[in-house]
Amino acid sequence: MAKKIEDYTKEELLDHIKDLKKRKKFGLVWEDKPEQVATDCEINLPVLQEVSGRAITVNKGSFAHLIIEGDNYHSLSTLNYTHADAIDVIYIDPPYNTGNKDFIYNDRYIDREDAFRHSKWLSFMSKRLLLAKPLLKDSGVIFISIGEDEYAELKMLCDQVFGEENYVTNFLWEKTQHFGRQKVNFYSDGDFILCYAKNLVTSSGLREVLVEYTKSEFEDAPLYNASNPEAVLVFPAKSVKFNIADGKYSKTTDSKYALLDTVVVKNGINQNDLKLRFRSRWSAGKVLSEAIAGTTYWVKSGKFAIRAIYADGKVSNESPKQILFSNKNNEFVSKSRFGLKVGTNEEASSELRELVGDQNIFNYPKPVSLISYLLSLYYREDDHPKDITILDFFAGSGTTGQSVMQLNQLDTGKRQFILCTNNENGIAENVAYKRIKAVTKKTHQNVRYFKTDFVSKQKTNDQTRLAMVNRCTDMIRIRENTFVEVINKATFKLFKDDDHYTAIIFDPLKIPEFIKQIEGVDSRKPVHLYIFSYSAYAHDQDIPETKLDYTTCPIPESILEVYQRIFRLEQINV
Ligand SMILES: C[S@@+](CC[C@H](N)C(=O)[O-])C[C@H]1O[C@@H](n2cnc3c(N)ncnc32)[C@H](O)[C@@H]1O
Repeated sequence: MAKKIEDYTKEELLDHIKDLKKRKKFGLVWEDKPEQVATDCEINLPVLQEVSGRAITVNKGSFAHLIIEGDNYHSLSTLNYTHADAIDVIYIDPPYNTGNKDFIYNDRYIDREDAFRHSKWLSFMSKRLLLAKPLLKDSGVIFISIGEDEYAELKMLCDQVFGEENYVTNFLWEKTQHFGRQKVNFYSDGDFILCYAKNLVTSSGLREVLVEYTKSEFEDAPLYNASNPEAVLVFPAKSVKFNIADGKYSKTTDSKYALLDTVVVKNGINQNDLKLRFRSRWSAGKVLSEAIAGTTYWVKSGKFAIRAIYADGKVSNESPKQILFSNKNNEFVSKSRFGLKVGTNEEASSELRELVGDQNIFNYPKPVSLISYLLSLYYREDDHPKDITILDFFAGSGTTGQSVMQLNQLDTGKRQFILCTNNENGIAENVAYKRIKAVTKKTHQNVRYFKTDFVSKQKTNDQTRLAMVNRCTDMIRIRENTFVEVINKATFKLFKDDDHYTAIIFDPLKIPEFIKQIEGVDSRKPVHLYIFSYSAYAHDQDIPETKLDYTTCPIPESILEVYQRIFRLEQINV
């Protein structure tokens, strides 16, 4: 039996520690550097608050995209309540940590001289990736743009967070053809885009998550087989397609095929039986039974070298290539299935300038075409879905939002974007919002704008619950995607979209009154009831007899449960 730790002497334990220290470890190790925005959450719980003056309503529908301004540590925390297992595609473009004022940690730019610059970046990214992973659906994928400074660190971090088995590839994007910014020893003209799936490996093998386009395959094969004896074969009328001119044919140009009767070809099809003698791999009976089963045959030239088309209409998928070329003169330039070519950094700057003007220009946005290319690769259950939810939590100037709206316009899709960005140098207000607003004018899609905010923990748990419930309305609206207000009272509120209602009942004593009111409004669509409770009890037994199709959920308990898990809070539980 193995010896218990208590039974070791101090000397034995010290020897054991020395042994452990000598062992080589494979993996990523860094010194975790505490981050203020994360430690704040132990006393200030994040919530979302709509800035109603920034809502962009350009059509009457209830569907809206979402912008969330604030530190993404906080927005991702709230999304863990509103969007767990709900995101199809995440695209992010985090600070590359070049040492050139692009990465702020604890309110300070991190420069090249900072001995902990990689540790700080890894602490920052690991927290956010760990918060982002539970948001992805099982079928979801994440794309992460990165430069050389942190590529190696990010690859190992992602192997840890998402699992090496879920690594799809590392795309290399040709980001420029301008070689002004020369580095010593090489020109930097490429960027990396790491791609991981939430769950790539299934019991039947690798899941197909990226498809560039689907093509209709046209497979045909010759019927000639030199090692078989000659046979006479009859191809019934209308079963053979011809690539030669219409007319009457009574001989072939290839002695291997003998035409035994005159055949009449009209509109590229044989009007009577085609009778041929040649060495065939199929018997006369097989040729006939295949024709009856729908197989067609094909004569491409006067030789009459007949072929069977056995996979007409079969579809097959083309995978994207790992290198994304952007030079328009290159015949291999990458193109999405919508025919859009992937562009460069320079094109990105000019397309942004056109929408927001020179004074707001933000350095190094990504081109819309690059994001559109990546998003249009996403493939789920034999299809390119058009109703996906896309999250970008380093949204910057809002390129991903523009891409999503334009893709919707191309194929009348209903993709929804969620953009999260801080307001560093006014990027949220003066650049992203402005850009998105300009694009909504052309694409006619609605947008809602939220900011992160906080509810301070109170002296007692009950007080915290009361404070929280009064501030969680917008999180519930986002979770339910119901933004149209129907009833707004101090004791209860009702919102709707096209399919269902969301009710928030702040005073459980008002449940009967609420039920009566909603029965008067509409009793056919489902209602999701969020009911205030000091515990996990959702007041089910206080709901009177009703024909309503409803579900219940206790608040703020359902939110606090999530925060307890992600912030490891102990104190709020009752
Ligand atoms: C490289 S830029 C992204 C550019 C974006 N892809 C585009 O095309 O505009 C990174 C952005 O992340 C934002 N950012 C950095 N740290 C953040 C944080 N902790 N929370 C939210 N946004 C952050 C910065 O303001 C910056 O605009």
